[in-house]
Order: sequence, then C-alpha cells, then structure tokens
Amino acid sequence: MKLLEKTQLGNLALKNSMVMAAMTRSRADMNGVVGDMTVQYYTQRTGAGLLFTEAIRISEEATGSPLTPGIFTAEQIEAWKKVTKAVHDNGGLIIAQLWHTGRVGHSIDRNGKLPLAPSALAIQGMQHFTSQGLKDYETPQAITIEEIKQTIKDYGQAAKNAIEAGFDGVELHAANGYLPSQFLAESANQRTDDYGGSIPKKARFVLEVMRELISAVGGDKVGIKISPFHPYGNMLLDDPAGTYTYLVDELNKLDFAFVELMKRSSYFPSPAHYPSDDEVELFGSMIKQTVIANAGYDKASAEAELKKGIAGLVSFGTLFLANPDLPARFEKDAALNEPDRATMFGGGSQGYIDYPFLEK
Ligand SMILES: Cc1cc2nc3c(=O)[nH]c(=O)nc-3n(C[C@H](O)[C@H](O)[C@H](O)COP(=O)(O)O)c2cc1C
Repeated sequence: MKLLEKTQLGNLALKNSMVMAAMTRSRADMNGVVGDMTVQYYTQRTGAGLLFTEAIRISEEATGSPLTPGIFTAEQIEAWKKVTKAVHDNGGLIIAQLWHTGRVGHSIDRNGKLPLAPSALAIQGMQHFTSQGLKDYETPQAITIEEIKQTIKDYGQAAKNAIEAGFDGVELHAANGYLPSQFLAESANQRTDDYGGSIPKKARFVLEVMRELISAVGGDKVGIKISPFHPYGNMLLDDPAGTYTYLVDELNKLDFAFVELMKRSSYFPSPAHYPSDDEVELFGSMIKQTVIANAGYDKASAEAELKKGIAGLVSFGTLFLANPDLPARFEKDAALNEPDRATMFGGGSQGYIDYPFLEK
C-alpha cells in the first residue's frame, strides 16, 4: 500500500506517505511559548512520515488569536528546540507552518491594535474566538506598502528562526482565509496599487513571500499550503480558477519543495460561480513541486488519491488529532478514536495528549 511506503520529499526521507496537517491547538502561554505538553503531543505523532506544526505567528503583528505560539522571540525559539529535538530523537520530521492572520484577529488580543489586512473590509457572518469570548469581526486597517515590506521580512526572519529551532523546513500558510490568501480574494482586497486589481498584482504578495522564504532558508526547505476553492473566512474570488492557475504557474517558476493542496469541504460550500472540479485534479496536475493532498481523506480515499499519481503525499488533520498512532491503525485496519471538538482549541492535556494508542 503506497500510503505506508517510504517516500522522499526533496531532501527528506519519509518513513511513509502520511503527513499530519497543521492544526492550531491554542495551548501556548500568553507569550506564545510552547511547553512540555506540546513536546509530548508532537512526539506522540512521530509515526507520521512528516509533521506540520500548528500555525506559528511570525511576529507580534501577525497575531490573531490568544494562546497561539510564535517564533520571533528567543524564548519561543528555545521552546521549539525541545519539540524538534524530541521529534527527531523519535525518528520523526517536522516542518513549521508560518502564519500571519491578517484580518482574522481582534484588537482585544492585539494590545488594542486593529488587525492589518489588504483592504479595510471586515469578515461578515462569522465571529472570532478571543480571550474575552466570541466577538464580531472588526474592520481591519489597510496595510501600507511599508508594512507589507516589513511583513515579508518578518516571514524571512521567522523562517531563519525555524531552522535555528531545528525544524526540517517551513510551510507558508496561504490557505483558510489568512493574510496571504486575503490578498488573492476580492472580498478582502480592493487595493488599487501594486498589490491589488489584476490577478498578477493580487498574487504578488504570496510570490514575494515565497521568494523571501526561499532566499532565507533554501528552496528545499520551503513549501506552501493553498485552499483555492475553500471560502472559509469570507474568501470570495471573482475568478478562483484563473487566479489560482496564475499563482500555480508562477510558483512553478520558483525552486521549492512542495504545495499542500487543501480541497473545499462540504461544511463550507463554495459560491455557485465556482468550478465544481476536484482541486487536486485541476491544480495538482499543473503543479511542478510535490503535491500534498489534503482535506477529508481516510485510508481508502488517500490510497486511491496516491494511485492517481498526482499527489505524492496525503495530509490528515482531525484523524491525526484523535489518533496519535494513525499509521499503525491504518496498517492494522484498526478502529479509530473519534475527535472531541470541545477540546480542539485551548485547554489542558485533555483532548490533547490523552487520546489512546492501540493496545500493544
Ligand atoms: C483543530 C484544527 C485546527 C486547525 N488549524 C490549522 C492551522 O493552524 N493551519 C492550517 O493550515 N490548517 C489548520 N486546520 C486545517 C487542517 O490542517 C486540515 O486542512 C483540515 O482539518 C482538513 O483535513 P482533515 O479533513 O484531514 O481534517 C485545522 C484543523 C483543525 C481540525
């Protein structure tokens, strides 16, 4: 079975083709520093060929939600070193996901400062999880050109910090309605300067960040996650297929390791004018880098996806959250633990490091 066979991702030798997708768990402290439970959480899941961390803030400015970790202070970097060492000691590999939330934040958890976003357009019809409970989204401030340049530098520095912390690479989080994807969507970007308007201008930010990451740590250590047809966070594009085809074409001109392609889920139906194509078939077949297919896979569908020959790897989110030994369970066709939604974000050890392993 391909899923459980060894494979290669750039310079990394993976023990199987199963990746744990990035999952925010909101268990860092108020300074964005992860602790011993987080070391244990990732170590428990080293049966995966590759682990992606939860999204990690690249700067104080990138902050959207409380108790999410950072990688911009010495204390945060030292704490991550314990995670990477434990994962490596257990034969695992781990890549840091780099995060700027853009308008998906709230001034309550940003020292009173409004979030920055491509344009001053608030998310409608959703609320944000803050340290003071659920709140309506605020209208963000339009990011200035100077702030854009600083943000790109912050991504580069965060990538260097990730390598210093012992990570095997970095993944740009350009999915799920956060800052990079906001630049691509008319519902968040109405700029008339070099970062908005035409498709090339809307894609410019993502491409500049990717070039910065590649020059900071080398393309073999860089990847990106995109979710072209996933409307989460009010991501509405006039021409999603055209926009992402352009982005993929331009990404193909860069030298880096992988694209994680997240498909839309039935929980978040995309608007009527969106194509109904399967994203892995549509975009994956154009992508030059290794494709990591994501969203909604189980053992059978992941195996079928790999057999198609477009994706080289499959990433699993909730299944890995609830099943630390997911590859062993797939191998034995064993029953799976059910994820507990109440403990996904925030809290202590419950629902974090106490999901049972198979009996030995
Ligand atoms: C609790 C939770 C937190 C998540 N946090 C992130 C995140 O920090 N970064 C990210 O790219 N995706 C995040 N996701 C999305 C997952 O990476 C993945 O794309 C999604 O769960 C679909 O995969 P699945 O069907 O295998 O769960 C999160 C998902 C869950 C369930």
